[in-house]
Amino acid sequence: MTPEARANVEAWLAYFADLKISPFYLNRAVVSKNEAESEVLPATTAAPSIYIPMSPAAMRAKLQASSPAASSAIPLPVIKPASLFEETARIDGDSLERIREDIGDCKRCRLCQQRNSIVFGAGNAHAQLVFVGEGPGRDEDIQGLPFVGRAGKLLTQMIEAMGLKRDDVYICNVVKCRPPENRAPEPDEMETCSPFLYRQLAVIQPKVVVCLGAIAFQALYGAKQSISRLRGQWLEFRGIPMMATYHPAYLLRNPNAKGEVWDDLKKVMAHLGLKIPSRS
Ligand code: URA
Repeated sequence: MTPEARANVEAWLAYFADLKISPFYLNRAVVSKNEAESEVLPATTAAPSIYIPMSPAAMRAKLQASSPAASSAIPLPVIKPASLFEETARIDGDSLERIREDIGDCKRCRLCQQRNSIVFGAGNAHAQLVFVGEGPGRDEDIQGLPFVGRAGKLLTQMIEAMGLKRDDVYICNVVKCRPPENRAPEPDEMETCSPFLYRQLAVIQPKVVVCLGAIAFQALYGAKQSISRLRGQWLEFRGIPMMATYHPAYLLRNPNAKGEVWDDLKKVMAHLGLKIPSRS
């Protein structure tokens, strides 16, 4: 095993130990014959196969076939259909490509002044699950991709703990340009940029949106609401079930909150019909 692969395994084990679900990875490779034949792809990378990942297509097939209600005793969201106003707010024929084109070389707010890249979003355009963060940090600004720094690595671990890969989900932010010194985006910057986020969500139409942290929560649920009071509860954004939880950067500073986030993600998994590891 290379030193890099070893460090990767160690990071995984530490993460699962934090979540108090360490024992499940011991027999994760044991799958039933049916699962093995129908939906489990061979593990092809050197990364530890704590979960054997499914392709997006296999996951979609599984999600379509499974009844969320049957998958868990965790209460599931009751979702009202989108209102007429929300329906008419959708742009006919909109697409992620068109949204990116409309953003263009954006100069709509002051965040353009120091940015290197516009970090639009990344992942599966047909994802059932979308994670929304606050805004790019230094690494994201350099690479042009969301959640690729330290907080991003933790988010990747969280996604993989759910039995998914980053490519199965879609990841984006409220503001697409890095706020200087990683300060929180100002209300007017959020207001200018959030319509693009709303369009992204309207195009993808995921089964669940996860808000990572207070800024994403404010953008999708309203400025006056408190994330610490409403995290872990089923909410909705324009007819899409929504779960708010703590931002991975907060977890880096407060590792004790990882268990609460894992509880929130388990609710999301139940809603998506994903298997929740036993003993967690
Ligand atoms: N934090 C965020 O909110 N978004 C990113 O893309 C990276 C860090």
